[in-house]
Amino acid sequence: MTDAPALIDPEPMLDAQGLGPTGRPLPDLPEPAAPDPAHPKRALIIAMCNQKGGVGKTTTTINLGAALAETGRKVLLVDFDPQGSLSVGLGVNPHTLETSVYDLLLNKHTAVEDVIAPTVVDGMDLLPSNIDLSAAEVQLVSEVAREQTLRRVLTKVRHSYDVILIDCAPSLGLLTVNALTASDKVLMPLECEFFALRGIALLTDTIDKVQDRLNPELEILGILGTMYDARTLHSREVLERVVQAFGDTVFHTVIRRTIKFPETTVAGEPITTYATSSPGAAAYRMLAREVLARCPGA
Ligand SMILES: Nc1ncnc2c1ncn2[C@@H]1O[C@H](COP(=O)(O)OP(=O)(O)OP(=O)(O)O)[C@@H](O)[C@H]1O
Ligand SMILES: [Mg+2]
Repeated sequence: MTDAPALIDPEPMLDAQGLGPTGRPLPDLPEPAAPDPAHPKRALIIAMCNQKGGVGKTTTTINLGAALAETGRKVLLVDFDPQGSLSVGLGVNPHTLETSVYDLLLNKHTAVEDVIAPTVVDGMDLLPSNIDLSAAEVQLVSEVAREQTLRRVLTKVRHSYDVILIDCAPSLGLLTVNALTASDKVLMPLECEFFALRGIALLTDTIDKVQDRLNPELEILGILGTMYDARTLHSREVLERVVQAFGDTVFHTVIRRTIKFPETTVAGEPITTYATSSPGAAAYRMLAREVLARCPGA
């Protein structure tokens, strides 16, 4: 653990009735204890998934990862999007990579340890990607057990981490099916805007199929409201509808819209270090607590 994280003050998140932004009372989330070093590691693997673009998958991967690392957990982030935004957001230039996730998927002589790179965050590593990964989607089609390729790669490093987060591309193609097959849980970021719910049925349908045919262990971890603007009735109404539809699957934590997030991408670091006492950093720390509360043992 580096610096002690700022204390979470839920006060600004409460409305006049003392309810959280999702219209439910905020639960009491205890500070997570650091994992026992004597306990052998077997990482909890979570895919950040929504085929809609620009909903906060990459932002959530970086900042949830950093918030989990602050709790003393060893975290690996997997950039599984040919856009390479996760790598860029952590200050890595995707064009200059010698090896990337692509090589791990398609060249069995590439060692995963050689592709893993440290990040600016203590205890958080990255498997970077670039545009090469888009070719993998095509090349994997002819492989045997093509849907299990990422799973096989991650099995080799699972014992070195507490949590592995996979940043998916905005698609439901073979790469995303690989991510879902490799994962224990799925976290769905959902932008608080009118069309957000469209497409969720398609996503849950894909998750059902993967559960059925490839990965019976897969579970939905939760739905995360992102880009929330408390000043607009619209944002509040969308969130209300999401809670009506999905109930307690929806995280109590809601990520507000703030310019700080695009700024962190330029800075190449998470909000927890870039603006450590900002509400955005507090929100991702609260999300980390919620995730750990939903995953005892992680
Ligand atoms: N809470 C927020 N407030 C304001 N801007 C945000 C917020 N979260 C993310 N952004 C910005 O919105 C853009 C899209 O976010 P992000 O890249 O995380 O989405 P994504 O779902 O990964 O997108 P893609 O589908 O293209 O991979 C980025 O420029 C990011 O900085
Ligand atoms: Mg992304």
